[in-house]
Amino acid sequence: MTAAAMVAEFDDVAAWTAEAVEDLGDEHAIPAACRGSASPAALAWLAEACELSAGDRLLDVGAGSGGPAAWAAKRFGVRPILLEPMPAAGRAASKLFGLPVLTADGQRIPLRTDSVDVAWCLGVLCTVEDKAAVLREIHRVLAPRASLGLLVVVADCPITDPPDGNHFPTQSELIDLLETSGFDVVEQIERPAAVPLSWTRRAQEVTALISARYRTHPAYTLASRQDTRLAALFDHGHLSLQLLHALSL
Ligand SMILES: C[S@@+](CC[C@H](N)C(=O)[O-])C[C@H]1O[C@@H](n2cnc3c(N)ncnc32)[C@H](O)[C@@H]1O
Repeated sequence: MTAAAMVAEFDDVAAWTAEAVEDLGDEHAIPAACRGSASPAALAWLAEACELSAGDRLLDVGAGSGGPAAWAAKRFGVRPILLEPMPAAGRAASKLFGLPVLTADGQRIPLRTDSVDVAWCLGVLCTVEDKAAVLREIHRVLAPRASLGLLVVVADCPITDPPDGNHFPTQSELIDLLETSGFDVVEQIERPAAVPLSWTRRAQEVTALISARYRTHPAYTLASRQDTRLAALFDHGHLSLQLLHALSL
């Protein structure tokens, strides 16, 4: 994943987010650092589906700046390990939440086989070309019968002009990928739409501060183009956000 637009979207914006949260206050950190379009309702569904419990070792693959894992630690007492290839995003997660971060690719997870109690992978698969390689690695490090929680952007048909670096699976491709990578899909729902105003307000305040500071920066322009293209695909009904719970076989 080297597209300049994706570096802008996932690395530069993550660094700017950590900086903005520092100025606006810690209560902004989790909403602003959920970049996979996770929401409290989506995270709660995943946490309950995966039966998170205190002390569980939760691996968050493609953790970004760490909002979802920090939410799970705060609400459920899990011990997150973040894996994120973009260095500035990993630094943002350490700075915002003090969580341990492995700077690595999901295709080569530097953890022992069967060493993780539960894994999340939220908003990541559509940014990865070789999805099967990532899913096989997650399967390797997960204990047998352990839970995988996914948030996936699913396409209703092959998308010919996606945002740079995105490869959206169709529903049947996604299920096929999970099954051939050793997972049993237990349940799937469309991401609940409702997000409390208290959450969106904090996320929007961070976005507004970043815009005020960086809107003339080339990386900001690139990241905004990605967002605009993605929003258009959602508006036209070609994409949907799906939550899945799977078990490693
Ligand atoms: C849309 S963001 C989601 C971040 C986070 N999971 C969240 O929900 O806030 C996608 C993330 O996947 C990461 N990513 C992309 N390719 C990856 C790969 N091959 N292995 C692991 N992470 C990857 C990106 O760097 C980015 O942080």
